[in-house]
Amino acid sequence: MDTLDTLQGLTRTHHCGELTKNDTGTEVTLTGWVSRRRDHGGLIFVDMRDRSGIVQVVFDAAAMGEPAFRKAESLRSEFVTAVVGKVRDRSADTINANLPTGEIEVVVTQLRILNKAKTPPFYIQDGIDTDEMLRLRYRYLDLRRPEMQANLILRHKVAKVMRDYFDAHGFLEIETPMLMKSTPEGARDFLVPSRLNPGNFYALPQSPQIFKQILMVAGMEKYFQIVRCFRDEDLRADRQPEFTQLDIEMSFMSQDEILTLMENMIAEVFAKTLGRKIPTPFLRMPYDEAMERFGSDKPDTRFGMEIKDISPFVGGSDFKVFNSVLENGGEVKVINVEGYADIPRRELDGLVKFAQDHGAKGLAWIQYTQSEGVKSPFKKFYTDETFTKIKDAVGAKTGDLLLVVADKHKVVSEALGALRLEMASRRGLIDDDKLNFLWVVDFPMFEYSEEDKRFKAMHHPFTAPREEDIEKLSGDLASVKAVAYDMVLNGVEVGGGSLRIYRRDLQAKVFAAIGLTEEEAREKFGFMLDAFEYGTPPHGGIAFGLDRLIMLMAKRKSIRDVIAFPKTQSAADVMSHAPSPVDDKQLRELSIRTAVKKKEEKV
Ligand code: AMO
Ligand code: AMP
Repeated sequence: MDTLDTLQGLTRTHHCGELTKNDTGTEVTLTGWVSRRRDHGGLIFVDMRDRSGIVQVVFDAAAMGEPAFRKAESLRSEFVTAVVGKVRDRSADTINANLPTGEIEVVVTQLRILNKAKTPPFYIQDGIDTDEMLRLRYRYLDLRRPEMQANLILRHKVAKVMRDYFDAHGFLEIETPMLMKSTPEGARDFLVPSRLNPGNFYALPQSPQIFKQILMVAGMEKYFQIVRCFRDEDLRADRQPEFTQLDIEMSFMSQDEILTLMENMIAEVFAKTLGRKIPTPFLRMPYDEAMERFGSDKPDTRFGMEIKDISPFVGGSDFKVFNSVLENGGEVKVINVEGYADIPRRELDGLVKFAQDHGAKGLAWIQYTQSEGVKSPFKKFYTDETFTKIKDAVGAKTGDLLLVVADKHKVVSEALGALRLEMASRRGLIDDDKLNFLWVVDFPMFEYSEEDKRFKAMHHPFTAPREEDIEKLSGDLASVKAVAYDMVLNGVEVGGGSLRIYRRDLQAKVFAAIGLTEEEAREKFGFMLDAFEYGTPPHGGIAFGLDRLIMLMAKRKSIRDVIAFPKTQSAADVMSHAPSPVDDKQLRELSIRTAVKKKEEKV
């Protein structure tokens, strides 16, 4: 078979995955790829795949004649074909219950081979455990897999519902620049050199934050955009250097109105794309409470294991570790891993390391065992009565394991918060069918940076402090709360936003609090401050991480699975080989000399 056929004179009449028993007896024309081929001598079965799914097509030498059948014998995986044939019911014993089209098959009368294909480097099917690098290198093959197609289809549908929702609520989708001024605060910028202005650089937007606020000054009132954002930060499973936000800003609205509008939008998205009913309003939990109970500002509330304080029971003993922590204003807290008192010693040792990797200096425990009573590294410092009191206070039972961390509040919260997630996953306590939404509200306005020895804006410096906290701006910065809110789904921050400062005098106070002088502020955000002098309405907004949301909706572990062409952990595109060295001529045009020797291209 050297010459290939063409589509001439054929028109696709049906999609493979959509054929049903109702089509029995119909003549159909299908186009698609050979997914699997089974040769039974005079009979060849091919799973034919297009975007809609798979259907079995049958080549029968007796029915189609010898020459046509020879051609069918040359079919291999991923060949592109068109077939004409008749739909027929499968006999009861050959029905494939795993396939939506499994009750029927198509008996082929005409075959055209439109293109051949090399043997793919991995199976084009769901649930493969192929190395992800290989999948990324051959992304066009990876994306042929039905589960990957389903992810992109879901993504399309979600974006469509979002656009319709905002349109119906009077929002305008407005584009903002991709080449903008580099502004500090936040993550590291991706820079783009300017050929026409040698030595000067644009930055790619980390978010359209400043532009969307200026659109409010410009009287647009309600803005949204599905927009690419760029951040040069270290990557994780839920972070990409370029990612997509559903970005929103609106004027003359309270925090409450904004949260309501957003949770209704999310409920509509889930209802219209997954058919899931999400109860509204979402729980609203103050940041302090989230840290206190869950040790996280994005608590996963699908399971309990909340953090409990045992400080009142363990002070004033001979145990130096707890004493010194308590004397220095710290605390001793626990989580209860139910039914796990008989945890193997080796696993406990591993948990100590785990806690240390999450900032704790050490980890202790109390095992309320059935057979040996209380086991604990600090058993000799306390009476049996104390261990019973602790047990009652935290609601533990015989058979339970308490993990104990002593330190400053922040360290204890973070370490126990991480242990809580880890133990829940080890113990299989997380129901992955649950969709637990909540808002975390009343975030601290500032965060102390040990590195820079100053307070920084926790969200960004345009976030408004709570009305009642304004007077604290010249005093106790750590206690100032912002009108900022995050939407959390199953322990993942899917969105975050705030009401903004819209009065010049208040903005000046906030800049002063984070150590920005008037001149520095002018130099960095001058154009924005200028704009704000001309009648800025009260406004606020939020941005959702679209990739993260789709990842959770599609029950994937990585956002890479819901992005058509994502980057690897080292921010590389292994299909197109970006980033890559460029010609010296290009560099000269940009007036750029590099200090590093060009890296050999990695594949
Ligand atoms: P923020 O920085 O919280 O807020 O970003 C909003 C949401 O974007 C998602 N996100 C990311 N997703 C994938 N990869 C990344 N590297 C990444 N970084 C953030 C998260 C996050 O909740 N302009 C403000 C919003 C506002 O105040 O209106 C902003 O960008 O899901
Ligand atoms: P050390 O004095 O560091 O040898 O610690 C003695 C024991 O105290 C350790 O084995 C741990 O069980 C416990 N421990 C030490 N540091 C902490 C901590 N920060 N929080 C909880 N327990 C700790």
